[in-house]
Amino acid sequence: MSNSMENTDGSESDHGGAPTIVDLDPTDHDTFLEDVLNGLSLDQKAIPPKYLYDDEGSRLFDEICETTDYYPTRTEAAIFREHIAEMAERIGPGVAVIEPGAGSGEKAVMLIDALDRPEAVVPVDISLDYVRRSAEALAERFPTIPIYPVCADFTKPMAMPAEIDPTAPRLVFFPGSTVGNFAPAQRRALLRLFADVAGAGGSVLLGVDMKKSSARLEAAYDDSAGVTSAFNHNLLARMNRELGANFEDKAFRYTARWDDKEGCVWMGLQSLRDQSVVIGDRIFEFKDGERMHTESSYKFTLGEFETEALACGLKTLKAWTDAKGDFAVFHLGAA
Ligand code: TRP
Repeated sequence: MSNSMENTDGSESDHGGAPTIVDLDPTDHDTFLEDVLNGLSLDQKAIPPKYLYDDEGSRLFDEICETTDYYPTRTEAAIFREHIAEMAERIGPGVAVIEPGAGSGEKAVMLIDALDRPEAVVPVDISLDYVRRSAEALAERFPTIPIYPVCADFTKPMAMPAEIDPTAPRLVFFPGSTVGNFAPAQRRALLRLFADVAGAGGSVLLGVDMKKSSARLEAAYDDSAGVTSAFNHNLLARMNRELGANFEDKAFRYTARWDDKEGCVWMGLQSLRDQSVVIGDRIFEFKDGERMHTESSYKFTLGEFETEALACGLKTLKAWTDAKGDFAVFHLGAA
């Protein structure tokens, strides 16, 4: 199997100072505009979820994880605390840790701390600021482990920093149930990409949120403190600021609904009246009550996820859950 992450000479991290960031500059203005215009032209209006995560969005996202209603972060952290030694043992020594969507501070620290002499850590994130801060925090906490931050869209194959020993086994670390934020086809493509990045000698450690009552799921994605709502409304502010759009913040309301047929929580912004929004020379009509999709969060049973991973070339080596079965951490290897 070929590895999507091949070594290149593109990076020049020198250790002893702050880590140098490889900036693959993923989100230029033109792509954002084009993606928004395309998304608003669909029958079901939708903005690609990655645009929620500008610096302010990433900050609000961290805040969501602290709310009482949002159980996954806490539950996953507890699973990690309880089983971290066994996880590290199973992962083995000398791995290069690749962390796509490097926002999981505490869990990454716990894992790296437990691993036997990791070769390097590669945090990958679409937000330059965010990946910089993750890398600096890691470098401070683990001064002897090389940290190679990469600013990139992790759904695309990307180069591995040249300094990393190409024979070191790789661990793809993907906590937070982010896998559930991808629609089925993209999710399978991502799992195949992870299988490819990990390669025959590597593995994947990934968090998955489990199906449960719609009441608990909807509360988790529409927290009573209103942080998830603010996180979504930030997208309107971002489109106004960066694309010159004229979304009226008060004319939209955040909504989160469990869709049993699709097996996901559907999140979006609902228009509170008939209105038009102008972006450049385009006008978009919103009907009263019309919902614009921002993100979905798919949920699984253990069996559903295991079957899907296997179809993507990843065999379940072990899955850990909390006592209530709310959340699972999967360790996957090449099938
Ligand atoms: N991946 C997590 C989840 O789906 C966190 C997350 C992503 C999230 N987007 C979100 C949480 C939007 C709340 C709102 O649960």
